[in-house]
Amino acid sequence: MNVIIVHGSVETSCDPLYLDSLQQAAITGYAELEKGLIDAVEKTIMVLEDDPLFNAGFGSVLNLDGEVEMDAAIMDGLSYRCGAVAGIKGVRNPVCVARKVMEETSHVLLVGNGANRFAAQKGFLPFDPVTKEQKQFWEKAIAGEIKSFSPFTGLPKSCDTVGCIAVCDGNPAAASSTGGSFLKLPGRVGDTPVIGGGIYASPYGAAVCTGLGEAFIRLQGAAWAVNLISQGVSVHDAAKATINRLKSINANGGILVVDNKANVAAVHNSNSFPLALVRDGQVIKDFEATRIA
Ligand code: GLY
Repeated sequence: MNVIIVHGSVETSCDPLYLDSLQQAAITGYAELEKGLIDAVEKTIMVLEDDPLFNAGFGSVLNLDGEVEMDAAIMDGLSYRCGAVAGIKGVRNPVCVARKVMEETSHVLLVGNGANRFAAQKGFLPFDPVTKEQKQFWEKAIAGEIKSFSPFTGLPKSCDTVGCIAVCDGNPAAASSTGGSFLKLPGRVGDTPVIGGGIYASPYGAAVCTGLGEAFIRLQGAAWAVNLISQGVSVHDAAKATINRLKSINANGGILVVDNKANVAAVHNSNSFPLALVRDGQVIKDFEATRIA
């Protein structure tokens, strides 16, 4: 049984516009499974990075300096191989750079200028990920014209990270990408590229997290969930236990968890957590995240 599940982050709209986009990403990614598992999770995230509805790639939120700094990661469960970039600027698909880190270096994580130089060496062309909408919103926020906004973006369509997990022939993988938090300090890195914090995969399963990155790093949320699965805990109980730990430190977020038998769970403690699920080639419309109050 093969499965791919993708989220558009907590506090993101569940309007059809968003759900359709997530569904398209999952369908596109699922079609790549024929090529390979890593191709599938990478492609799913690329579709969402290219979509300005989501806070990843093109459409990312701006930092205090008015710049986009992006984080992304990818991980193969069977081999524990992983790659990540943090604070990367001016590329179109950070998840593809993360994959190159995994496959073409002996490192796991490249940051800042080093990540940018690596991307240029690998042939990634310069790309401006700043949208007009995000630029205008940043200008208003800096001018003090906007008093309250979500930690991720004050835009009506609040978003955080996009993430995806998949299982093909019993092998799990994960990928994730984000512009981070709105008005973050330049150089701030969230959980998305922190292996174990916002993303993890092992031969037993995979998990991706979304929400307050600092909290997931502190709790090592993704690794914790996957390690529970390896001890025989169900995906649903592992996801619930992770979000309950998050609650215990007064944080909000969501998690997707899959085991190597392709059982999936999605749990959050926020207002919304839009998802799309494709199982054995079929879009599963009635799968919804469990909300813990
Ligand atoms: N969860 C993404 C971040 O905090 O950057």
